[in-house]
Amino acid sequence: MHLPEPCGPVSARVVEILSAQRAPMSADILAGGSVLTDRDAQLALWTAYEMVYRGFDDVDPCLEWDADLIGLRRLIEDRFECELRAVTADRVAEALARGGEVGDLVLGLVADDEGPHLSSYLRRDATTDQMCDYLRERSVQQLKESDPQAFLLPRLQGRAKVALAELQYDEFGAGDPSRLHQDLYARTLRATGLDPAYGAYISEVSALSLASANVMSLFGLNRRLVAAGAGHFAAFEASSSVPSRRVAAGLARLGLAPAADYFEEHVEADAVHEQIAARDICGSLVRDDPSLLGEVVFGVACALHLDALAGAELLSRWERIDARAARSEAS
Ligand SMILES: [Fe+2]
Ligand SMILES: [Fe+2]
Repeated sequence: MHLPEPCGPVSARVVEILSAQRAPMSADILAGGSVLTDRDAQLALWTAYEMVYRGFDDVDPCLEWDADLIGLRRLIEDRFECELRAVTADRVAEALARGGEVGDLVLGLVADDEGPHLSSYLRRDATTDQMCDYLRERSVQQLKESDPQAFLLPRLQGRAKVALAELQYDEFGAGDPSRLHQDLYARTLRATGLDPAYGAYISEVSALSLASANVMSLFGLNRRLVAAGAGHFAAFEASSSVPSRRVAAGLARLGLAPAADYFEEHVEADAVHEQIAARDICGSLVRDDPSLLGEVVFGVACALHLDALAGAELLSRWERIDARAARSEAS
């Protein structure tokens, strides 16, 4: 579909705006280093994105499409995407060279991933404080679980669209409001004494936790990135079942079994979801348009990369705290 022929001054203006190559906002506002680990940039992006989700009590909802806000969002998104493409380039190239059936390729990338073993640590060794730290950091993405991927739906067609709708039916409670996954996560927070309110920990979580949530909105809200969004979603689902079992076991070990419902739900559910996401969503997308394979793999690589960084950050944070405690005990 092409832009319609304008039929008056107003539609002419819209067509002019959409056809023109306008200069982006000055990039000076962003510092030169990594956007991925820049808390200021990630918080700015999260805040801008939040206008399309639940918004803010003290902000006029009309500002959702404010031109300056969108301009700044695009500026950060461009840097964020460039950085993600650079850090995942080797992994994407290797996977594409390996080739094979799309579903197998996606699931194989996740299975071969040698990230930090955060969930194993949570199962066996984490203290209650560390477990709560993990739950708090994850709350940024889990309290809106599957919302960003809902934006993929109108951008898909045929089999891929049907498969995403089938998967999201589960994520959104399968007809039962008490099984809505984001609310299951809120109950986990409440059961561990944490604040279950949406956005309660925004001022505390790390840049990487924000980036892990923001990448889903980046892919969900930019139609040209729909295939990356599908790949990211597949990797997210495929790296959930086994870790969920470990986190549920860790919660039980700490005497927090009532908080494990969310994770127990994902042991079974995501073993099925990973197949739907990798084979039916990603597989159908690439079957319909083989040129999308690289973008699907890029999305997978982004999920794995951010997950590894966030896991490593938490483990080293806890190591530093342990080392400090040992030093003060010794003195
Ligand atoms: Fe879920
Ligand atoms: Fe799932």
